[in-house]
Amino acid sequence: MANADLSALAASKGLEIIFPPDQIARRMEELAAEIARRGLEQLLVVAVLKGSFVFAADLIRALHRAGLEPDVDFITLSSYRKSTTSRGQVEILRDLDLDVAGRNVLIVDDVLDSGRTLAFAKDLIAARGARSIATCVLLDKQTRRAVNLEADFRAFECPEVFVVGYGMDVAHRYRELPFVGRVVKDG
Ligand code: IMP
Ligand code: MG
Repeated sequence: MANADLSALAASKGLEIIFPPDQIARRMEELAAEIARRGLEQLLVVAVLKGSFVFAADLIRALHRAGLEPDVDFITLSSYRKSTTSRGQVEILRDLDLDVAGRNVLIVDDVLDSGRTLAFAKDLIAARGARSIATCVLLDKQTRRAVNLEADFRAFECPEVFVVGYGMDVAHRYRELPFVGRVVKDG
């Protein structure tokens, strides 16, 4: 779909496109090349569900084009924020199937915000004896960190707005959209 048609589609849903599909696709190739340059052997990609499933699907195919043959596993994490001031707690909703001991692991998530989700995932995988851990996020909301953590790889810096599409949702909606957008009007 042409970008003008996509913008009209987004507007009809009360959304504004931040990262269109062609820009995401181009960045995916660069990101995969950066990761490939690390020379991580027998890489295990761990996608943090649900929000990263579209990103992870595109990234692993870009990694294939960059010459890698990663194994892939999934973990479902949920972070609960009881109020805007309370500490967010991260919980495992569905655990990994594979053993990470001795593996080079690349944790893939959609948004790095406070950093609690990624910090939790890193600690968990480190405690299980991974050989090395790197992190890769689609979007980095740099100014919102509550823990001291930066991603090793990131596709884009993201403004401090709530984003949807490309796997990300608000109340289970919009995961299917091919772009990353922000909600400008309740639909
Ligand atoms: P953190 O633990 O505060 O870094 O939050 C990261 C998690 O919150 C991500 O894995 C996302 O699932 C979710 N998240 C943060 N910001 C957004 C957003 O703008 N849209 C959708 N999900 C978000
Ligand atoms: Mg997430």
